[in-house]
Amino acid sequence: MSAPRTITLDNITVYIEANDTDVGKRAADVFCTTLTQAPNAAYGFATGSTPVCLYKELIARYKAGLLDMSGITAFNLDEYYPITKENDQSYDYFMSTELFNHVNVKPENRDIPSGEAPDPEAECLRYEKAIRTQEDFKLQILGIGENGHIGFNEPASTFPAKTNYVELTESTIAANARFFESAADVPKHALTMGVGTIMMAEQVLLIATGPKKSRIVYESLLGSIDPQVSASALQMHRNVTVVLDTDAAHDLLANLDSVS
Ligand code: GLP
Repeated sequence: MSAPRTITLDNITVYIEANDTDVGKRAADVFCTTLTQAPNAAYGFATGSTPVCLYKELIARYKAGLLDMSGITAFNLDEYYPITKENDQSYDYFMSTELFNHVNVKPENRDIPSGEAPDPEAECLRYEKAIRTQEDFKLQILGIGENGHIGFNEPASTFPAKTNYVELTESTIAANARFFESAADVPKHALTMGVGTIMMAEQVLLIATGPKKSRIVYESLLGSIDPQVSASALQMHRNVTVVLDTDAAHDLLANLDSVS
């Protein structure tokens, strides 16, 4: 299959790129187009290894004088609980080292669920309110878990509407253990925007790379809308852009090509 390629599925535009670098550039194009139109809006960022290619490209564009993030308010999808901000596996630490230390988002305009909050449920309420009081929640960046989770919205019987305190599944703990010394060190809980919180963003930018994401990307975009796969809710969102590498696009393309 040759890349790049663009596919339109109703409300979802899918870009397929040859490699991680090109995925980062395409995702940065999408992000920067929106940022130029709405330089003072709220943006939601994501952690995990996947968006690093986007953040590298944003940093390069900032250093080249092509990007100004001084007007935005930055939220983040999720955070482990409990975890300190200084822990190098916290998402707070990740966002600082992978993006915020290198661009001009104002520190006072950054918010992330706190893994240090004494009461996780109260922290979820605070965070949800902080997002809902934004006049313009413009764009949410997403990765996707191997089980289809967005944020840490694990397989469930309903789509969580609001920021919520979750118990991580064994499969997520196993998938994320690579970042910790051992699986036993992965926190067992997290605070995450709900699927409903994510759906409030005017635009969603989902990035997935590598063969391990191929099956779940296909199920999320073309399978049934099912809270067992929280990313499938994006089929109901009005403006979704998906950027994939050829490995992550494999099953999606195989199924589209078989019906076209
Ligand atoms: C974590 C995060 C998700 C992320 C997922 C995939 O579970 N909570 O937001 O999308 O990991 O991570 P990776 O991009 O490293 O595959």
